[in-house]
Amino acid sequence: MLKELAPSLLSANFYDLKNDLSILKEENVRYLHFDVMDGMFVPNISMGIPVLESIKKNTGDTFILDTHLMVERPERYITNFKNAGADILTIHAEATLDFVEVISIVKDQGMKAGICVNPETDIKKIDDALGVADLVLVMSVHPGFGGQKFMPYVLEKVKYLKSKKNENNYKYMIEIDGGINIDNVNDVLDVGVDIVVAGSSVFKNDIRENVKSFNNIIKKYN
Ligand code: DX5
Ligand code: ZN
Repeated sequence: MLKELAPSLLSANFYDLKNDLSILKEENVRYLHFDVMDGMFVPNISMGIPVLESIKKNTGDTFILDTHLMVERPERYITNFKNAGADILTIHAEATLDFVEVISIVKDQGMKAGICVNPETDIKKIDDALGVADLVLVMSVHPGFGGQKFMPYVLEKVKYLKSKKNENNYKYMIEIDGGINIDNVNDVLDVGVDIVVAGSSVFKNDIRENVKSFNNIIKKYN
């Protein structure tokens, strides 16, 4: 599978989102990472369903809307996100009791389903989900805020996921989120990450140049 960049909209210019999205489109970005925070699972509140819906309505199939729910009991909102146009719905293993069941409901509704683990969560906690998940998201910062420093110890989790995938012929993509920049993106690609989320390092200064720099590195792995 192709390795790709997923810019995190959390760091975009919300006053001129159309401009930021058109630059991403021109640079052939396919994945758009959309962070939803509820002020309970994480201490911050970000954007939600109407914003996602507006982006989908106005961009059609241009982007794969990679929706990261940092939300308690995400099962309450699966249908809402489906109707709003989410393509991938990723829930946190720490946010609900039966995450394997929630993943299967997400898939039944016609979306790709992701499972995410916080930095301090043992990766083995999600063993039962690996056979059913379409995507596994490894947090490399504490969720809730952009612009934090990458935690290198989570690379061990990526290696674990990569070997489990090879051993069992699982199909999930491995995604990483938090503190990724031009200087450490090689480290995550080297251990097997497929989808690289980057917020502040894409949207600060020149978006186009930032995307080009990321893609120049990522394409060497494809
Ligand atoms: C953090 C979010 C991230 C965030 C990443 O809770 O899940 O997607 O936007 O931002 P950077 O790349 O700036 O660490
Ligand atoms: Zn995220």
